[in-house]
Formats: sequence, structure tokens, C-alpha cells
Amino acid sequence: MSKITAAITGVSGYVPEYVLTNKELETLVETNDEWITSRTGIKERRILKGENMGTSKIAVPAVKELLRKTNTRPEEVDMLICATTTPDMVFPATANIITAEVGAVNAFGYDLQAACSGFLFALATGSKFVESGQYKKVVIVGADKMSSIVDYTDRSTCIIFGDGGGCVMLEPNTEGLGVQDQVLKSDGTGAPYLHMKAGGSRRPATKETLEAREHYAYQEGQQVFKFAVKGMADVAAEVMERNNLTGDDVAWLVPHQANKRIIEATANRMGLSNDKVMLNIHKYGNTTSGTIPLCLWEYESQMKKGDNIILAAFGGGFTWGSIFLKWAYDTKQD
Ligand code: UT7
Repeated sequence: MSKITAAITGVSGYVPEYVLTNKELETLVETNDEWITSRTGIKERRILKGENMGTSKIAVPAVKELLRKTNTRPEEVDMLICATTTPDMVFPATANIITAEVGAVNAFGYDLQAACSGFLFALATGSKFVESGQYKKVVIVGADKMSSIVDYTDRSTCIIFGDGGGCVMLEPNTEGLGVQDQVLKSDGTGAPYLHMKAGGSRRPATKETLEAREHYAYQEGQQVFKFAVKGMADVAAEVMERNNLTGDDVAWLVPHQANKRIIEATANRMGLSNDKVMLNIHKYGNTTSGTIPLCLWEYESQMKKGDNIILAAFGGGFTWGSIFLKWAYDTKQD
């Protein structure tokens, strides 16, 4: 019997309607469109507004659309992993909320927390379940409502983040398509540069933690930038080298969208021209676990069966990694 690989057989995404522009941010903090655009490449981001609106409200419409596109009945889903840093609640897992809301009554699932590398880590994890031969339909979600942990008085952080997410369906493939290889890394010594101080078991919420604004993402941008530029390029180069790929062999780089300058540095290192780099940071900013599936969703029609695709991310933790996959289908027009 030929070897089973885990192939992406469908992709979907969702972004909330509200558009937070650089102009509007100028009314909240001392900043300007020129600075944000030239330092990050971001023009606007989406924000999920309303009471009781958690990350699942981004994931559920994306998963429903994925099931429709892939002609999958909800009961057929075996497993759902939700990569998120902003779960609806500390527990239960957002994955449980999603599976209940879409009617995936036979699926088991859990959340996976690896900050901006979450989607890559979840994709690598889910692919192993498919490769084992035991699971046939595995949904991988990457979604975040970053506006729930962003301090809109901190101008160096609030300008980069937005809300949104997407998902992919993983299914067994015997043509050798799908996930081929991955390089995944984490290094906890990076924690001081990007973290949320309170709200976990170390510093549960108190009046003091609230007053000290400790329930927001804390980032030392310049430090993170330095590690990200090197880390993301290193792993992308490593996965290419291991698989004897040159820039010419790669059809697309799908980079985490944190800063356009980090993306450009990675593409340069891989020897890729700009037209092979998926980019939507100008519209959505940094949606943490959401960036890579949102790119795949937007560029789906441009990918061809057999294309060599490199995914790459860097984020809090630190966590970073790169996945090499062969795209498994030509888009059906629907
Ligand atoms: O998603 C996963 C992990 N995160 C990342 O990968 C993010 C990595 N970091 C970055 O993308 C960048 O560091 C930022 C976009 C967050 C910041 O850009 P930067 O070029 O590193 O700016 P900086 O923090 O070094 O600040 C440069 C100057 C400072 O002024 P002085 O001290 O030179 O006078 C800041 O106060 O820019 C100032 N500044 C701003 N000015 C206008 C910082 N934020 C702003 C702002 N508007 N929003």
C-alpha cells in the first residue's frame, strides 16, 4: 500500500466586518498612517465588535464554509484542532465550542497555544493523525480575536494586531501530495519579550493587575523583530535545503503576517521574488494564529495541484517554524 500523506483538501477564512484604519488609530494614540505603513506595511485591520463575541465567532463561520466547500457533513469530521492565543474562555477549549456549533458531534478536539506559530504547530500535529491512517477528516483552525488583549493606549503594539482566522481540511492522500516536512522550534527564553503578564495561574485577575494594565499583550517590538527576522528566514531556508529546493522550485511562500519587513527578509533569504509571496498584511494586520490560513484562503485560486508551498511563522514564546507542503488540488469554481 502506498504511503499516506496528509493533504489540504479545502480552505476557508473569515474576517469581521469592522475596519479599523490607520486614520482611526491616529485618534487613539500618537501615530500616523505614514509611520505605520512604512514600518509595518499595515493599512487597516478588522475588529470583532459586540458583547460575548469570542474567537469562536470567527472560527465557526469559517468552518461552516469549509464543510460546504469540501462537501463534508459535520458528523464526518473526526478531529478539530484550534490554534489560538485568545480562546473564548480559559476552559473549555474553543475547539469544543466550535465543534458543538457546527454540529461536528463525532469529532474530538483541543486548543493549541503557540502564539503566532499556532497554525503551523496545529497543522503539523493534525497531519500526524491523518498519516497514522486512523483519522480521515481533520480540521485545523487558526483564529484570534487579538483586540481582546490589545492595549489601545500602547502605540507600538496596538497598530499591528487585528482579528480574523481561517481553517483547512486535512485528508489522506496516496499521490504523495500534502505535508512533506516541517522544522518547528520553541525557546522559552524569549518569553520576556512577548507575553501577557496576568490572567494566568501565576497572576490571576485582581484589582491591581487590572489597574497595572497587565491583561494586555506586552511586546518589546524591536527585540522580537530581531529574533523574528533571523528565526523565520533560518527555518524556511532549512526546510528548503533539507528537501533540495531552490527558490525556482518554490511556487509560494506563505509567511506569518507580522511585519512586511520580516516577510521581505525571509523571501530574500529564500531567493524568492515578491510575486511568489502571499501578502495581505495591509488589509488584516497581524491576526496571530489567523494569518497563514487567511493567506491560503485568499490565494486559493492561484495555487495549482503539485505546487511546492513553504509556510513560515515566528511568534511569542518564542515559537517558530516552517512547513513544506505540496498543494493537492486545482480550485473548483463554485
Ligand atoms: O507576531 C509575532 C511577533 N511580533 C512581531 O514579529 C513584531 C516584531 N516587531 C515589529 O514589527 C516592530 O518592532 C514594531 C512594528 C512593533 C515597531 O517598529 P520598530 O521599527 O521596531 O519601532 P521601535 O519600537 O524601534 O520605535 C522606533 C521609534 C521610537 O521613537 P524614538 O524613541 O526613536 O523617538 C518609538 O517611540 O518609533 C516610535 N514609535 C512610533 N511612532 C509613531 C513606536 N510606535 C510608533 C507608532 N507611531 N505607532
